Amino acid sequence: MSHRVLTGITTTGTLHLGNYVGAIRPAIEASRAPGVESFFFMADFHALIKCDDPDRIAHSSRSIAATWLAAGLDPARVVFYRQSDIPEIPELTWLLTCVTAKGQMNRAHAYKAAVDAAVAAGEEPDAHVSMGLFSYPVLMAADILMFNAHKVPVGKDQVQHIEMARDVAQRFNHLYGRGQELFVLPEAVVDAEMELLPGLDGRKMSKSYDNVIPLFEGGAQALKDAVARIVTDSKLPGEPKDPEGQTLVTLYDAFATPEQRASFRAALRAGLAWGEAKQQLVALIDSHIGPMRARYEALMANPAELEAILQAGAARARALAGPALQRLREAVGLRAYTSTATTVAVKAEKAALPVFKQYRETDGKFYFKLLSAGGDLLLQSQGFEQGRDAGQWVARLKREGATALTADAPVQRAGTEADITAALAAFQEA
Ligand code: TRP
Repeated sequence: MSHRVLTGITTTGTLHLGNYVGAIRPAIEASRAPGVESFFFMADFHALIKCDDPDRIAHSSRSIAATWLAAGLDPARVVFYRQSDIPEIPELTWLLTCVTAKGQMNRAHAYKAAVDAAVAAGEEPDAHVSMGLFSYPVLMAADILMFNAHKVPVGKDQVQHIEMARDVAQRFNHLYGRGQELFVLPEAVVDAEMELLPGLDGRKMSKSYDNVIPLFEGGAQALKDAVARIVTDSKLPGEPKDPEGQTLVTLYDAFATPEQRASFRAALRAGLAWGEAKQQLVALIDSHIGPMRARYEALMANPAELEAILQAGAARARALAGPALQRLREAVGLRAYTSTATTVAVKAEKAALPVFKQYRETDGKFYFKLLSAGGDLLLQSQGFEQGRDAGQWVARLKREGATALTADAPVQRAGTEADITAALAAFQEA
């Protein structure tokens, strides 16, 4: 089965070199691998949470879209869309909101940080908290669960949100799944590279530190100006320099081949002037992003082309989201009056039958368990490397009943022998 990767970027600014090296470049590379289905989007609903400047949001969205494409995203391979073009996402957000514990949202880092800042300033704890900010993780869960993404590449600061999405998915599956998984449980992928790129002053590259190298904005001149501001030590031209730990060298490494890395280091040890080194860094970066910048500028100058690409992406995304949401609406009871899936029948079936649940844990292994009709744990499997093996054991237990429970069966008994035998017999009858 193919494997879905999904990530979004909030549209409140323009992207810098750190975003490119840490997020865009690896995401595009990964999207080219066989068996991967990628979903990349502009998180413009999320932008409304932090920004009330309409022109800024509109410009940022357009600029980030052009950046992805200029950097090599192939819209035929990747489902590429604006979050706000997918009305199924806010609708799913509501379904999820109704199964999300408020207590869990109270613990979200972004919300807690806003509260801490207000309290420190002597204000009411919720002084600057909108419901949008408070519910931010639920909207993000909807982004991810809408498309049943398996992997979500994010920065470290977002890992908690992916864990919350998992919890919400699990709860929803439990409440409404009737033994089936309505949602895949997503996993965060934190690439070491994502945190790596330093800014001009050596701290993490970030707009809030004013230490960024712009990616395309301002053209080649802005790149040159930023590189000129990189902090180095005060060694003079001709003096041997220690390349390790130098911000300039780390930035160079992000674009260099192993051979280029080695010769740059050798040149610094042999006394290459920092000014010269900066020129080489500009040339190296520009050899990679110069051609992309031209494509970026062409796309920014032709909004109709960009818009058409995003409309096509939205159509593909909605072709998946529409039927998925329909199924979820049915599951929670938002049904046409003519629908055959009545709640009464569902309840009766639920009361009569025990269930097998199959799932994947954070250790990457596949598990199943047998629950009684009343929800008590009867059997717990060991972890399987392959989902197929877990599935085959479930099928065998359903077919053969308790006779399949030999001493070497990969399960532990959690209920009485009588309950287990009766539960398995129910499957054979069914
Ligand atoms: N909250 C993410 C950020 O600020 C952006 C985002 C929104 C996102 N929805 C997402 C990332 C879904 C991954 C998956 O970085």
